[in-house]
Formats: sequence, C-alpha cells, structure tokens
Amino acid sequence: MRVVIAPSDQIASKAADIVCQQLQRKPDSVLGLATGSTPVALYRELISRYQQQQVSFARAASFNLDEYIGLSSEHPQSYRYFMQQQLFDHIDIAPEQTHVPDGMSEPLSSCQAYEQAIGAAGGIDLQILGIGHNGHIGFNEPGSSLSSHTRIKTLTPTTLEANRRFFRDDEFQPCLAITMGIATILQSRQVLLLASGEAKAEAVQRTVEGPLSAFTPASSLQMHEHAIVLIDEAAASQLQ
Ligand code: F6R
Repeated sequence: MRVVIAPSDQIASKAADIVCQQLQRKPDSVLGLATGSTPVALYRELISRYQQQQVSFARAASFNLDEYIGLSSEHPQSYRYFMQQQLFDHIDIAPEQTHVPDGMSEPLSSCQAYEQAIGAAGGIDLQILGIGHNGHIGFNEPGSSLSSHTRIKTLTPTTLEANRRFFRDDEFQPCLAITMGIATILQSRQVLLLASGEAKAEAVQRTVEGPLSAFTPASSLQMHEHAIVLIDEAAASQLQ
C-alpha cells in the first residue's frame, strides 16, 4: 500500500492522472467506479480532460461498486442515475459498457451475474474507492468477510445517517444494497482509494496503520500490492 498525501485541491487532478495513465496504457481498461461525494471532483476533472481530447473512454468498460436495492435507475438517488449525471452522460464511454448493479432485479441471481460479468470483462484494471467514516469500502460494512464477493448487505446506522443528506425528509431511504465484496475489490489489478477532510482521518489511520481487520474493511487493502491511498492533509492528520 502506498500513501500519497497532497493538498486538497490537487487530489482530483492526481487521481485523474492515474486514471488517464491507465487508459493510455490500455485503452480498453476496465474501470471500477464509486459514487458518493469523494469522486465527484475526479469525475469533473475527467470530463474536462475528455472535452480537451486528452483522454478517451471509447474502448473502456466500467463496473460500479454498489447500488441500493429498491431504487430504479431513474431514481435520482440511485447510483446508476448518479453515474449518468456525474460522468457517463458527458464522456464517450459506450452505454452498454457501463455496469451498475441492478437494484430492481432479483438480488441473489443479479449478484452472481455481476461477479461473472466482471470476470468475463477480464477483471477490473483500476478500482476507484472512497471510504466510509466506519472504514467501509463499497458497502462492505465493518464485519464483512474479507473473502466476500458481490452480495446483499444491510447498511449500518452510521452509513444510513451519513447518506441521509442525499435523501429528502419524505423520501424512502433503502437500507439494503448490492455491493462488490472485499475479495472482488482485492482482485482488481490496481486500487486507488481517495479521502479528504478530517472526518475521514480516523478511518484512514485504521486503514493504513491499524491491524488488518474485518472491522475496518479498508484495512484489507494492506494486502494489495498495487493500492494507492491518495489523501489530503486533513485526512492524513491522524497518521503517526
Ligand atoms: C460509494 C461507496 C461508498 C463511499 C463511501 C464514502 O459507491 O461505495 O463506500 O465511497 O461511503 O462516501 P463519501 O464519498 O460520500 O464520503
């Protein structure tokens, strides 16, 4: 695991450099993508580089980490909708090459199908991750098996609370999600975890310096040979 600490306003461009280098090396790369607030600036930067013809996604494919069960792709809080708005609608990736777990289909078979589709695409070349305050990656909440694959998870009260800000007061907030497992993430050839702000400092400290533990799912990245943790100074503030 390599830790890179950079000023907050350089995180997105450094992350975009890594994504663009990957696509230059291998134009038909399979990208693993995340939602949430963390990757938004990265996606904005990628859109801008695409508009300046510095990068193309025409031959790339993508697999998102997770999706809420019970939200259709048209629901504004669904992760499919988020990805369309924040990235896919603004770049040249082929729509049929973008994959987000289907929150409306029969969950058990769709988890298995998702895992098989990742394998059929040749596996993920570069997985982008954010991190939850509780150390989750994807929706692999504390206690998740380190050998888990794509499956259904119940979201913890902490995660529900952290994500409540995206839902209106009168809006249904799902408490179940389909998520890639920790083993699915660890099988990616390269992983890039992004974190900014003091609120993530404790989770980052446990990820980087804590014992490898299912209670901090992101600490599993210590086992990954090509994992980069790209964080700002505030997120790094509890590192020894
Ligand atoms: C999103 C995801 C989550 C988030 C994490 C951080 O697809 O899988 O693990 O990356 O909850 O969320 P933000 O970036 O909103 O702090």
